[in-house]
Amino acid sequence: MRIGILTGGGDAPGLNAAIRGVARRAFQLGLGVSGVKNGWAGALEGDIEELTPESVRGILPLGGTILGTSRTNPMKETDGLERVVKTMGRHGIDGLAAIGGDDTLSVAVALDKAGFRVVGVPKTIDNDLASTEFCIGFDTAVQVVVEALDRLHTTASAHHRVMVVEVMGRDTGWVAMIGGLAGGADLIVIPEFPMTVEQIVDHLHQRRGKGKDFSIIVVAEGAQLTDLAAGAEEASKKDAFGHVQLAKRGTGDLLSRRIEEKTGFETRVTVLGHLQRGGSPSPTDRIWATRLGVQAAELLAEERGGLIPIRKNGSVAVVALKEVVKETRGVPRDLYELAQVFT
Ligand code: F6P
Repeated sequence: MRIGILTGGGDAPGLNAAIRGVARRAFQLGLGVSGVKNGWAGALEGDIEELTPESVRGILPLGGTILGTSRTNPMKETDGLERVVKTMGRHGIDGLAAIGGDDTLSVAVALDKAGFRVVGVPKTIDNDLASTEFCIGFDTAVQVVVEALDRLHTTASAHHRVMVVEVMGRDTGWVAMIGGLAGGADLIVIPEFPMTVEQIVDHLHQRRGKGKDFSIIVVAEGAQLTDLAAGAEEASKKDAFGHVQLAKRGTGDLLSRRIEEKTGFETRVTVLGHLQRGGSPSPTDRIWATRLGVQAAELLAEERGGLIPIRKNGSVAVVALKEVVKETRGVPRDLYELAQVFT
């Protein structure tokens, strides 16, 4: 039996650990392993290479993905899914481990429906897949945010400034909320709980009134600030999966300008951007990428498809692939309320 491994969507720290987990367990079980290059693009074009124990050696601590990735969507191509199935057949691949977030895994669900064996591995720094308590990359992204907030606190306090820190997360506020809580943010603005610039301005005035002469605001790139509209052009640029490219919206920059305008408080913005996706994975990302990757290889070896290993109650569990993409898991109210204690 031969399996393929593919990484799709935005890269995240821990992808290589997952590739290594799938491949090493597959080798142990006597399976052949192929690496599909650049996400679904490689599956469409037949850009596929043999993986050997040597080619996955030393990759555990590396960021990025040795296989490359892309946001190519086969469902947007003519006969895309059929072409993927044919390519797999030509390369003798009996089953595929697709490591990705909701976009990559929604293609995996369609492929499974089309009759090709595929299992998933949950990855996204956005941490927004349903059912699972863990997505590869989130822990490291949060670590980057926390380190940035620690550094920004000292300079904000020295200059008595407002610091706006824009973080990733697409339509959810997990990176902002967990990073902001762990880094002691004074205000966390996330898509799940819309706010207005006026409310933020009031909040900053109240803090000054209490003698707090600096503030750190963490804003998720997808935050809904009803009175802060991005330009129509920025708001409409979309990727192959139909997502607006939120970084181009410039929410952090717009917000910081507006705050300075309305309050007169000196305000600066830091956009953490792709720093959150780069670098070496945290131990938590490495361990879980390893556990989930190994389980994915075992499922394929047992000729099981349409499934995905996840973390549930602190252990590895296996659920239907369609479960994790059925909805976007947002930050719950109790975490939002917890953050209100520290505003
Ligand atoms: O889904 C991961 C993510 O990093 C989002 O948080 C962000 O909106 C998006 O990808 C950025 O994508 P790209 O790397 O294509 O600019």
